[in-house]
Amino acid sequence: MSGHPVLGGARVLVTGGASGIGEGLCRRFASLGADVLVADIADASALAAQIGGRSVRLDVADAGAWDALAAAEDGFDVVALNAGVTTVPHVVGGAVEQPLAAVGVSDYRRIMGVNVDGVVLGTMALLPGMLARGGGQILVTASLAGLVPIPPEPIYGLTKHAVVGFVRSLGPALAPHGVTVSALCPGFVDTPLVSDVSRELIEAFSLGIMPVEAVADLAVRALEERQPGSLWTAIAGREPVRFEPANPFP
Ligand SMILES: NC(=O)c1ccc[n+]([C@@H]2O[C@H](COP(=O)([O-])OP(=O)(O)OC[C@H]3O[C@@H](n4cnc5c(N)ncnc54)[C@H](O)[C@@H]3O)[C@@H](O)[C@H]2O)c1
Repeated sequence: MSGHPVLGGARVLVTGGASGIGEGLCRRFASLGADVLVADIADASALAAQIGGRSVRLDVADAGAWDALAAAEDGFDVVALNAGVTTVPHVVGGAVEQPLAAVGVSDYRRIMGVNVDGVVLGTMALLPGMLARGGGQILVTASLAGLVPIPPEPIYGLTKHAVVGFVRSLGPALAPHGVTVSALCPGFVDTPLVSDVSRELIEAFSLGIMPVEAVADLAVRALEERQPGSLWTAIAGREPVRFEPANPFP
């Protein structure tokens, strides 16, 4: 086991851990000595076996499922609330002229359930245990789309701005209790979430796309630096930075 100061021997939960960024987080955290529970609506047992962890089926939008998880598995040192979806397959590009035209009410409810409820309900379920134990870290995978506009996917942008606001507000409130809440705000990452059409545009406009390992690097840095309410950005080809929004009342 590694002697990593945060992750060595830590009990860690990663939602959306079966694929993409979540899988990258699970692999990195396990390599640093964490005991990882991979939670996903999809089967993650093969990944869990590879990294010496465990897996659980979890729909992050389901409050009852969170209560059951907390009753069975509480005691996490680090909770990575990472599961997320888009409303339309093409986060950039796509054929529609008016982005909302392609989005039905059920698409809207679904993305709010995963991207917003999944973060809020997970925090509500697992925070009491952290407070009772006097510490822990909650790391939310937001997005660069939580800091800048994403015109082709306004509801995705809404959900990511929402969780950024949640993290920025909760961070200072929980700091005195030893619980750190922070968020990752990466640009494009090479995962199944990014469609072929989006990839063509990313390439055409030289926007850059990062490997999941770059987000894992960012996650480890955020957990090591442990800054309440902090936002960590990574964009292909640039140095990762802690982003501090301007004070609107200078
Ligand atoms: N790929 C990118 O360019 C990018 C950039 C910035 C932020 N993000 C964010 O990173 C996070 C991970 O996305 P990804 O790119 O790895 O996508 P992905 O599609 O590869 O992985 C998402 C995972 O979430 C799981 N999931 C979906 N709905 C769920 C639910 N209701 N309950 C539990 N698990 C559920 C999926 O089964 C999948 O394993 C998301 O929050 C996404 O918004 C992605």
